[in-house]
Amino acid sequence: MRIIKAKSYGDMSRKAANVISAQVILKSNCVLGLATGATVLGIYEQLIDWYQKGDVDFSGVRSVNLDEYVKLPGDHEQSYRHYMDINFFHHINIRMENTNLPNGMAEGIESECHRYDALIEGLGGIDLQLLGLGHNGHIGFNEPNEAFEKLTHCVQLKDITRKANARYFQDEDQVPKEAITMGIKSIMQAKRILLCVSGAHKAEILKQVLTGPVTPALPGSILQMHPNLIVVADEEALALLYD
Ligand code: GLP
Repeated sequence: MRIIKAKSYGDMSRKAANVISAQVILKSNCVLGLATGATVLGIYEQLIDWYQKGDVDFSGVRSVNLDEYVKLPGDHEQSYRHYMDINFFHHINIRMENTNLPNGMAEGIESECHRYDALIEGLGGIDLQLLGLGHNGHIGFNEPNEAFEKLTHCVQLKDITRKANARYFQDEDQVPKEAITMGIKSIMQAKRILLCVSGAHKAEILKQVLTGPVTPALPGSILQMHPNLIVVADEEALALLYD
């Protein structure tokens, strides 16, 4: 595990964006595993800026996102498809047909999960997986559980997760109760993982995830077992790690 300490949120975003752009420069047709949430917004902004300056070219890149809410259409303001379109894809030269998210509107959720696993496999796996960290240690939407769920699956979102994500909806009732998420196996099979964490409110959970026991009760803790994990976090998020 390599921990890169950033001075601030902006510094974290630039450092993480540097890792992603290096990946794209080294392998122009790489498969990027992408994430949503507030933490990664600054990374996408930085990458857009470098794209506009001509420093990075996404024309060959394929992408797979971690997760999507069930029963929110792709054009719903809070769907992760919409998030990716407006915060990243529409501002760079990635080909839209090369961007993939689970389809939360699929008729058969189970077959959609199989389709997504087959898709990732067909792409040859993920070269670089970007991750944020949920307040309860979730990665993607892999919520605390009794066992690690390996494959793409439908998950009942925990109250703490729905509360955290309620800030984007008019009220908490509107936050979907279910989501489709990539499983732990697909995430762990990524050749490299980039975990980005910012802010004092994530300091305790980050410490547990990186130094506590590896347990499905804290899904992110499995990342300790990854041979090529890069953590980019700001000083506030890392504060308890060095005390
Ligand atoms: C959501 C997403 C996760 C993300 C997490 C943290 O639940 N499914 O992929 O990492 O939120 O989000 P934030 O960065 O807004 O704290």
